[in-house]
Amino acid sequence: MLDLAGKHVVVTAGGTREDIDPVRYIGNRSSGKMGFAVAEAARDRGAAVTLITAPVSLADPAGVEVVHVESAAEMKEAVVKATAQADILIMAAAVADYRPKSKAKEKIKKETAGAGLTLELVRTPDILAEVKGNFLRIGFAAESEDLIKNARQKLQRKRLDLIVANDITAADSGFGADTNRVTLIDRQGKVEELPLMSKRQVADRILDRVLGLLAS
Ligand code: CTP
Repeated sequence: MLDLAGKHVVVTAGGTREDIDPVRYIGNRSSGKMGFAVAEAARDRGAAVTLITAPVSLADPAGVEVVHVESAAEMKEAVVKATAQADILIMAAAVADYRPKSKAKEKIKKETAGAGLTLELVRTPDILAEVKGNFLRIGFAAESEDLIKNARQKLQRKRLDLIVANDITAADSGFGADTNRVTLIDRQGKVEELPLMSKRQVADRILDRVLGLLAS
């Protein structure tokens, strides 16, 4: 069903990379699968989709505008640009919360660094909390403890319409898996616990809820 026809959906995916030097970066275990599934599901439901992705080993989906970024700062810039005309922002990306304070111009050498090396880290922008505009905001909460409590706090702190809470300690859910087990919490506080399903099925369940939020 083309129930998202006429809507512009911006989706982020993958794990950002924060440079240490020309060779090394700080990254995370996000595969990008959840965000790509959301982008493909929204496309198949008739939406115009912009997929902003950090480096992943997945092919660009057809029929979607794909923007490739690396760092949190680059992702923020792309999100700000794409959401200038968007109805919905779905932030499935695992955005680094910290980056090295400065990027070394040359490769850091053991002879100069010595026996130990301390990296000074500074905060990156919180994209979801900072990006302004009149669109629905959907976030993800990757938690290893107190799933619902932490997700609820994130929903409120980032003023979201819906949050997808994800217990990353389960082997069949979260990073790298093709399946996911999530709980959806909306701005009214309604909690919907979904069973284990494919990431594509999770994506469609999220979009079902988005349609409801658009109408309310
Ligand atoms: N997010 C973001 N910008 C960041 C960090 C996270 O936009 N710098 C988004 C993520 O894409 C996700 C949501 O915020 O949709 C929650 O991400 P998560 O990493 O679970 O939460 P954090 O805000 O980083 O909080 P913490 O790491 O302390 O749990």
